[in-house]
Amino acid sequence: MNKTIEDILNRRSIRAYQNKPVPEEDLKTIIKAGLYAPSAKNKQEWHFTVITNQDVINQLSDMALEGMKRLGLNKGDDDHIFYHAPVVIVLSSKIAGFSGVNVGCALENIALAAKALGYGSCIIGETRYMYHRNNKIDVDKLLKIPEGYEHDISICLGYPNEKEPEAKPRKENIVDYIL
Ligand SMILES: Cc1cc2nc3c(=O)[nH]c(=O)nc-3n(C[C@H](O)[C@H](O)[C@H](O)COP(=O)(O)O)c2cc1C
Repeated sequence: MNKTIEDILNRRSIRAYQNKPVPEEDLKTIIKAGLYAPSAKNKQEWHFTVITNQDVINQLSDMALEGMKRLGLNKGDDDHIFYHAPVVIVLSSKIAGFSGVNVGCALENIALAAKALGYGSCIIGETRYMYHRNNKIDVDKLLKIPEGYEHDISICLGYPNEKEPEAKPRKENIVDYIL
């Protein structure tokens, strides 16, 4: 099978990582893949915060967990929203039409580039709970999110410390063809 299609079909969320840094060159390639994603009118109105500083990664995780606790949400047994991954990329976008779709395109490019280079990744929506504990200005400042932009979603990645789980069966009756 074609390698790109294989990677798309076999990519799974990874929730256990080796304590090993991702080489800068690979990280740059993964970010580049995100930056080359399509965006409405090619406006590229997104912002990526690439974090490899473990103290900051732990701080973000604690902030989100605390925000979740305040809302009465339970994270279960996991004590780290990024599963102790060595890299976290926080994606933000200009508040405008299609911003979520644009960021989604970038996000999937990042996940697939990581997969193609042999890394595992997991999209993390829970970072939005950071704002339930902290002031938006403080969080945005910590994450270097430009004014007029809002945090959308994050992705963590690194060398996997688990086998890719089996894909869940796809739902049926999702696709209609008009021939
Ligand atoms: C918008 C979005 C938010 C997600 N947020 C989280 C999250 O906060 N934590 C997590 O462990 N996984 C998160 N995931 C991963 C999904 O749980 C995962 O993609 C889904 O279960 C399908 O599994 P797969 O990625 O292995 O195919 C998120 C995925 C998406 C698309």
